Amino acid sequence: MILQYLVALVAVIAAVAADSNDKSKLVGTWTSKSNTVFTGPGFYDPVDELLIEPDLPGISYSFTEDGYYEEALYRVTSNPQNHSCASAVLIFQHGKYTVHANGSVTLNPFEVDGRQLLSQPCKKSHSEYSRYKQKTFFKSFEVSVNTYNGRNMLQIFQFDGSKMQPLYLAYKPPLMLPTITLNPTGKSSQTGSTRKRVRRSLENQYRTNAVREVPKSFELFWWFSIAAIGASSAYLFLH
Ligand SMILES: *[C@@H]1O[C@H](CO)[C@@H](O)[C@H](O)[C@H]1NC(C)=O
Ligand SMILES: *[C@@H]1O[C@H](CO)[C@@H](O)[C@H](O)[C@H]1NC(C)=O
Repeated sequence: MILQYLVALVAVIAAVAADSNDKSKLVGTWTSKSNTVFTGPGFYDPVDELLIEPDLPGISYSFTEDGYYEEALYRVTSNPQNHSCASAVLIFQHGKYTVHANGSVTLNPFEVDGRQLLSQPCKKSHSEYSRYKQKTFFKSFEVSVNTYNGRNMLQIFQFDGSKMQPLYLAYKPPLMLPTITLNPTGKSSQTGSTRKRVRRSLENQYRTNAVREVPKSFELFWWFSIAAIGASSAYLFLH
């Protein structure tokens, strides 16, 4: 009898593990440990074509339930020869994503919308603002609860299987720009009506959008785990 339930319990655990690349687990806005880079209007202003530099480098990804993603990257590369010659890059992209049956993920950007701002102060006096398009492939991903701080964690394995820095859930529903092509003409000089349309869409979007995730304290998470173990043991003995 007990054995049957143990077998059932193992099956449930296995099912939960197999479900770890379930698409819905990606939904939300994820950010790296620095907690300074977030997708959405604070990173890129598509109406004024402005990339906004966060306080510290980091990366952020957002995913919607209906298959859209947004990417915000801020990287600083130091120059060991001269510390005042560090280069910095900001990248914005958004588009559609697909989770494949084998657990891999493809990010397909809206090609006309991607932007890059590159600063190399010792090579060029001005930052270079340009279009950017880079299709991205992740070999796999895992969503888990970090046992140390109780936060929801997203581990992405890049195309070659190497680990990306862990990302933590910051907003759910996600904090994102509208999931439409923001620059539909393929030209950076938009017509007045297009600008107005994008602006109105932005305003509407922000009214109902993201909800900030408050990290659960580790203690609460720990007590919850103990309670869950207690409950499942009780279940086993009562049946
Ligand atoms: C997983 O599936 C995708 C899409 O079919 C494919 O491009 C990729 O090569 C596959 N990856 C592996 C590791 O089999
Ligand atoms: C480092 O770069 C700055 C800015 O270009 C320059 O003024 C300075 O002389 C450089 N220092 C060294 C040690 O090369």
